[in-house]
Amino acid sequence: MINQVNKVTLAPMEGVADVLMRNLLTSINCYDLCITEFVRVVDRLVPTHIFHKISPELKLGGFTLNKTPTRVQLLGQEPQWMAENAVKAIELGSHGIDLNFGCPAKAVNKSKGGAVLLKTPETIYQIVNSVKQAIPSEQVLSAKIRLGFDDASLLDEIVSAITSANANQLTIHARTKRDGYKPPAYWHHIGEISNKYDIELFANGEIWSLSDAKKCIKEAKTANIMLGRGALATPNLANVVKGKEEKMSWPELSLLFQHYAKLELQGDKSFYFSSRLKQWLRYLKLQYPQADALFNAIKLMKNKDDILIEIKKSLQ
Ligand SMILES: Cc1cc2nc3c(=O)[nH]c(=O)nc-3n(C[C@H](O)[C@H](O)[C@H](O)COP(=O)(O)O)c2cc1C
Repeated sequence: MINQVNKVTLAPMEGVADVLMRNLLTSINCYDLCITEFVRVVDRLVPTHIFHKISPELKLGGFTLNKTPTRVQLLGQEPQWMAENAVKAIELGSHGIDLNFGCPAKAVNKSKGGAVLLKTPETIYQIVNSVKQAIPSEQVLSAKIRLGFDDASLLDEIVSAITSANANQLTIHARTKRDGYKPPAYWHHIGEISNKYDIELFANGEIWSLSDAKKCIKEAKTANIMLGRGALATPNLANVVKGKEEKMSWPELSLLFQHYAKLELQGDKSFYFSSRLKQWLRYLKLQYPQADALFNAIKLMKNKDDILIEIKKSLQ
């Protein structure tokens, strides 16, 4: 029976897990890999500056500042353009390629990208196959899916398409597109297919604690997991689920905020810190009551120094 977490990846989270957050979280956790926010592929080669904007790690050989490997995620529906952009991402330094088949955004689904592809496993096969054939054989190709669009009835067919096209890894967010982000996550559906296919599986969805992680790996019958919102709500969650440390304390967290305040995004007009900290506190308050109080204290503030004073006050 599986009872210990093996690999832990940091989930792609558009507009949240950007390079600063990836650097911050990998500086305090042993993540095995980070997936970037998605690069949208339509009908052309994406310019280099866009790849660099989404993943500045590419300029550091595809690593975060503390040397955690980073993989570019592509979102698109045209096999040929997905393949050409995959080759480019790898040439720029990405550690393998991740393909997004789970994005629920209406605009993306309307143009036949993201979760809508879960309705047509044959198209998924063509995309995965085309990318796999184009990239060097030693590069890891991963796919990220949900259980299905409306229900999980096509899950077997989707996983079969992905494995037949020789992807190396598969992350399953254990909810359908229709489920959105509503709890629970149905990890047992992953368990139902996990022994059937020869692919490295990662289970994802609703892992907020060590006990969730243990339950998830047991039900999903895989020791590998991907952490999403839980990684924001408990910033050292990857180390917690690996049994390396306890959940970090509020005073430790306030030091992390101070470190976060020092990080600057190129071209940022300094509102980044106030808006991103407020966004982060919305996740943190799920685990720390002090985060709610801090959010209320700073919600109208924009100035970094004023916010830092409130952070210090929250320790008293
Ligand atoms: C704000 C936000 C942005 C997301 N952006 C992406 C994305 O760009 N690509 C992707 O494959 N999944 C994306 N996801 C889905 C997550 O990677 C993950 O599958 C989902 O949050 C379930 O895991 P969780 O319950 O641990 O949060 C996003 C989720 C959130 C909350």
